[in-house]
Amino acid sequence: MVPLGQHPSDAFAPRLVPPRLEPEKGGDFKSDDTAAGLAGAGRVDSGGATGFPLATTRPTDPEPSMPDALELLETRRTIAALQLAEPGPSDAEIRRLITVAARVPDHGKLTPWRFVLYRGAARAALDARLAPLHRAKFPDMPAEKAEFEWTRFQRVPLTIGVVSRAVEHFKVPIWEQELSAGAACQNLLLAVHALGYAGQWLSGWCCYDAEAAAILGAKEGERFAGLIAIGTPTVPPVDRPRPAFEDVVTEWSA
Ligand SMILES: Cc1cc2nc3c(=O)[nH]c(=O)nc-3n(C[C@H](O)[C@H](O)[C@H](O)COP(=O)(O)O)c2cc1C
Repeated sequence: MVPLGQHPSDAFAPRLVPPRLEPEKGGDFKSDDTAAGLAGAGRVDSGGATGFPLATTRPTDPEPSMPDALELLETRRTIAALQLAEPGPSDAEIRRLITVAARVPDHGKLTPWRFVLYRGAARAALDARLAPLHRAKFPDMPAEKAEFEWTRFQRVPLTIGVVSRAVEHFKVPIWEQELSAGAACQNLLLAVHALGYAGQWLSGWCCYDAEAAAILGAKEGERFAGLIAIGTPTVPPVDRPRPAFEDVVTEWSA
């Protein structure tokens, strides 16, 4: 695991260190930075069967402000998959990424999503399975563009597929379950950024073609919410214009 503050992408990205959860005696967790505010109030257990840290009680005091967390949110931006290189996240970092990705609002606690890792030697094998299908489906695609598809996975250190597995439920509409999968994608991107890597939320033909999606690991009734390409940026980030407050906000009045 690359030590926080020493990641190769530091040359491009500001190092943003979120409060860290450290084990306390007895397996409880607390935040370094917020220990005083949370003392005796906010306790988090180590996750039991899921392995995910689970909040068990909430502090009654107001939440402490987290300026670093806001900066993290304000600086996340996509780096195109073509501009992502090694190193990718370590095993320990991947566990942490998934822990954050799974920590999303989830009406009914249905866990209507799951994750698939594409990394290592499996990437080229996956590309080799997809390429003939792509050739057959898009025979007229110019070679340059097709080449991108035929090497999609092996060019990126790590891709995490976020699979939506929404099912009919008496109370929770499919739409809400799918929104939860989208939230998992965004949480994942934010965690990637927090660890000093960069990512891109991708979809493309292989998400929507049933045969390709099956090769990627989708089972009956599942679909991909996104393929999150993850690696170390090779270029400085260039932001895009963001929507103006006035263009996206209206105030309701009677
Ligand atoms: C569901 C979803 C699918 C996307 N699929 C693609 C894609 O296949 N190819 C692509 O270039 N961008 C895709 N994007 C857009 C990029 O992930 C990204 O949002 C965009 O480049 C803007 O960058 P930003 O994250 O800095 O706002 C997709 C975005 C979403 C939300």
